[in-house]
Amino acid sequence: HIDLNFGCPVPKITRKGGGAALPLHREQFPRLLESAVSAAAGIPVTIKIRMGLDAEFQYYLNIAQLAHTFGIHALTLHARTADQFYAGEARWGAIRRVVQAVPELPIIGNGDVWTAEHALSMLQQTGCAGVGIGRAVLGRPFLFARFNALFSGRVLPPYPVLREVAAIARRHLELMVHYYPEAVAVRRLRKHWKWYFQGFQDARRWMPQLMQAERATEVEALLRKMNSREPYPLAEIWMPRGKRGKQPKVVLPESLRRGLATGRFDITPVTGSGG
Ligand SMILES: Cc1cc2nc3c(=O)[nH]c(=O)nc-3n(C[C@H](O)[C@H](O)[C@H](O)COP(=O)(O)O)c2cc1C
Repeated sequence: HIDLNFGCPVPKITRKGGGAALPLHREQFPRLLESAVSAAAGIPVTIKIRMGLDAEFQYYLNIAQLAHTFGIHALTLHARTADQFYAGEARWGAIRRVVQAVPELPIIGNGDVWTAEHALSMLQQTGCAGVGIGRAVLGRPFLFARFNALFSGRVLPPYPVLREVAAIARRHLELMVHYYPEAVAVRRLRKHWKWYFQGFQDARRWMPQLMQAERATEVEALLRKMNSREPYPLAEIWMPRGKRGKQPKVVLPESLRRGLATGRFDITPVTGSGG
C-alpha cells in the first residue's frame, strides 16, 4: 500500500503548508486525496494524520470522513495535536471517537504504546483495527516478536538479557555496514546504542568507547564484551526516547494563518481535546 504522512509538525515542513498543515488546505486537500487514490490505480492508499493543529483547531473527524469518501483504505491517527509534537500523553479517547464516527474506515491507533500488553489495551479501549508503534521500538526490534505472539495468541517470548540484546545490536551493525559506507553506518548507529543499552548496568562501562569507535570491527568487539545475563531493564520501558528536544511552535504559511483567523475553512473545529 501507499501511505501518505500528514502528521509531521516540524516548522521546516509546516512553514510551507506541508505535513500536519496539509489538511488545512480546504480545496487542495480533497483533490490531493482523490488524485492519489486515482493515480495509485488500485494499490490501496492509506493516510496518517494528527488530531489537528492544537486544542482548538482539531480536524481529525472531518479528515477521516473525507478520507473515507475519497476511497482511502485506512487511516492512522497519531493521537496528539501538531503543537504537542511528542509531549504530553497521547489521547486514546480521540482514537475511540474516530472509530465510532467513521466505522467503515479502518483506524490504526498511534501514540504512547510501549509494550505488547499496552497495544492490546489500545485495541480494547478504542476498537481500532491496528496499532502503530514508533518510539517504543527504538533499540528494541525484539518487541515485534512479542507483538506478533500476542496478536496470534501465542505465549510471549521473554525479554532478552544483555547478551541477547548485544547480539541483536551486532546484527543491526552488520546490516548497516551492508547498506552504508562503514563510517556513515558507525556514526548513525551511535544514537541506537543509547537506545539499545539504556538502563543496563553491565553495559555502562563500554558505552564511552562504543560512542567513540570509528571502525565496525571495534564496535563489534565492544558489543561482544557485553556478554552478561543481566535482565532487561523493564523499569525503563515507559521512558520516552527519540524526539525529546525542545518543542518548537507550529509555524504556518501566512495565507493559512489568515484563513484560520478569519474562519474561511470548512474544517469545523471539534470541541474538547480528547482524553
Ligand atoms: C525518530 C522518529 C522518526 C519518525 N519518522 C516518521 C516518519 O518518517 N513518518 C511518519 O509518519 N511518522 C514518523 N514518526 C512518528 C511516529 O510514526 C509516531 O507517529 C510517533 O512517534 C508517535 O508514536 P509513538 O508514541 O509510538 O512514538 C517518527 C518518530 C520518531 C521518534
